[in-house]
Amino acid sequence: FVGYKLATKRARVNNCIQLGCSKVVDTVDVEDIGEKKVFCRCWKSEKWPYCDGSHVKHNKETGDNVAPLIVKSEKK
Ligand code: FES
Repeated sequence: FVGYKLATKRARVNNCIQLGCSKVVDTVDVEDIGEKKVFCRCWKSEKWPYCDGSHVKHNKETGDNVAPLIVKSEKK
């Protein structure tokens, strides 16, 4: 467990989104979700906080398996 903690302290997930901020916090009004919104979880999107497909390249290059969070409205 100690080794895990050390490893996570060294590893950085975010290498490109709002690097000048101490925390990256985004708020999306539920009214703006519409029918569907696709949110980035790989921290590589240039359309942050939305997915732009960058996770595909990241997964190919690293062997990772990250993908977006899809939020859908129940309204049709
Ligand atoms: Fe990050 Fe798609 S670009 S999850």
